[in-house]
Amino acid sequence: MDEKDKRAIYLLGQKKNAESEEIRLTKQLFFDTKLNNPGERVHCVDMIKKAVYPGSFDPITNGHVDIIHRGLEIFDQILIAVLENPKKRSLFSTKERVTMIQEIFAENENIEVKSFHGLLVDFANTNESKMIIRGMRAISDFEYEFQMALMNRKLDPDIETLFMMPSLNYSFLSSRLVKEVSMLGGCLEGLVPGEVGDKLRDKYKTAPKTNST
Ligand code: PNS
Repeated sequence: MDEKDKRAIYLLGQKKNAESEEIRLTKQLFFDTKLNNPGERVHCVDMIKKAVYPGSFDPITNGHVDIIHRGLEIFDQILIAVLENPKKRSLFSTKERVTMIQEIFAENENIEVKSFHGLLVDFANTNESKMIIRGMRAISDFEYEFQMALMNRKLDPDIETLFMMPSLNYSFLSSRLVKEVSMLGGCLEGLVPGEVGDKLRDKYKTAPKTNST
């Protein structure tokens, strides 16, 4: 990669601060460079290195964790954005949800966790990301996700949404169902990370159960 290419990639990262003509030329240069260097992946990776993975995460499930691991195969960094919504009654406070996720990924320096309020596209821009990841479990998720992705695109055409499918093992899993199972004393094995299971049992004052008990 020569100095010109490096500058092109640098400017793409700094796009918000650059002049529009410069952006256009830089984009052109970027794609020309890619065309002339088939198989060279570095440019693309540089451009999309950080993705935001937003959600309520009340609580995080193994389905979310699966999507995060898959996301790390594509992106250098994933910023998990926990929705802070005073109007929505959640079982866990924003701080509890953030802390639980931080604990789960404590060993992984490519994962960051923050809470956010307001528009997701604003949060993504403030955190210098142009990519949103959303999990898509089944067709039933599609309509809501489609509307949200297009609304986000309307709000900021530079931000893309990438849908990822979790493993089939988790396609039935949701935070809502996990809470219900926990409240009724069901087994949480394989549904949520261990520390989340403990916190759920604390909340509902239920005893640990395995599938055989
Ligand atoms: O886990 P969830 O509850 O399906 O996540 C929904 C979330 C947090 C992605 C969505 O509610 C959101 O992005 N809220 C921020 C508000 C916003 O940007 N609204 C306009 C675009 S739809």
